[in-house]
Amino acid sequence: MEVASIVGARPQFIKVKPVANAFNKIGTNHILVHTGQHYDYEMSKTFFDQLSIPEPAYNLGVGSHTQGKQTALMLQRIEHVLLEQRPTLVIVYGDTNSTLAGALAAVKLHIPVAHVEAGLRSHRLDMPEEVNRVLTDRISKFLFCPTETAMENLRREGIEEGSSMVGDVMYDVFLESQGLLNGSRLLFELNLIPKEYLLLTIHRAENSDDLNRLESILAALAETKQKVVFPMHPRTQNALIKTENLACKDNENFLCIKPVGYLDMLTLEKNAQKILTDSGGVQKEAYWFRVPCITLRDETEWVETVESGWNTLVGANKERIATVVASSSVSTSEVAQDTYGDGSAAERVINTLTTL
Ligand code: UD1
Ligand code: UDP
Repeated sequence: MEVASIVGARPQFIKVKPVANAFNKIGTNHILVHTGQHYDYEMSKTFFDQLSIPEPAYNLGVGSHTQGKQTALMLQRIEHVLLEQRPTLVIVYGDTNSTLAGALAAVKLHIPVAHVEAGLRSHRLDMPEEVNRVLTDRISKFLFCPTETAMENLRREGIEEGSSMVGDVMYDVFLESQGLLNGSRLLFELNLIPKEYLLLTIHRAENSDDLNRLESILAALAETKQKVVFPMHPRTQNALIKTENLACKDNENFLCIKPVGYLDMLTLEKNAQKILTDSGGVQKEAYWFRVPCITLRDETEWVETVESGWNTLVGANKERIATVVASSSVSTSEVAQDTYGDGSAAERVINTLTTL
């Protein structure tokens, strides 16, 4: 078996890590193809360095464009690589434009596609990620689901063949990384006291491209007078540069920093009093750390985190954000221990693929 994994955006570097390790252990020929969707050091290379992920065999250097042009350039360049390499299987991860382009390029060359993190749904086709997920699931031969909810979503769409619940590959990496966190040094460098700051990430187009929503979120946090650590995704940083009067500008309670590496991010999450985010990965990590999460969206694909009480959906509503940030209690219930698997999702993926 010769396998090509297609990655391109920050969370995909994390997701591919345990899969690459598992292939490496059994000596399978596995190459990484990086589309170049993310390219800043803090958005890409730092993850390869810090997590010891093998160097990509190709970096297609696609970069930032409109949705259509970015996806089209990826499709064209991935096809070229697949024709050259002729892998027997292509693996794609998550729901970015790199995911859809990888799946589409492969399926049109009759190369079977495996989708890791299949079956997630927001049921909102105005999100580019939802389009990417629905289409990728439809053309994948193997669908590896991180949760039972994802399995159920596929069942409802009549996609049962090839689907299996393996758990979440991000949970594999999360568990493996716990011994590597260096809390005290980072907190010292940033002058932070554990549990005395809020951690904020924003990057969804629905928030960063809508100045009213962005202003509402930042104004709510400015009014809390709490310290807010804000590692800024470049999309959000670009939006902030363009505007004069957003509440975090010139506000000493906001610690606006560049995106941080994975281990630093986990350290910031673990020690935060609360996390505010529109990221999928960060919602789950907050839950795994049992740090209360406030999700700046109207819906989530990770419904278990909300059902457990650890995650609250607030959208971009200023009053609602302020109320939930101020609330001192979290009404939680234990969800099943194995909601996201047991830390061996990648092994299950590889076992399935290699016993065919
Ligand atoms: C993408 C994914 C999203 C995922 C996120 C992870 C799509 C449609 N969206 O969103 O699902 O949650 O990655 O972070 O695939 N930029 C830089 N440097 C970089 C990368 C991006 O400056 O290294 C800037 C560019 O101005 C670019 C903007 O960020 O236009 C958005 O980047 P893009 O990759 O298009 O989408 P993300 O918002 O990162
Ligand atoms: N992350 C990181 N540094 C940051 C912000 C996020 O390492 O400055 C990690 C985070 O811990 C999680 C992943 O990136 O593992 C989530 O990626 P992102 O929020 O970009 O995308 P999403 O999960 O929403 O697709």
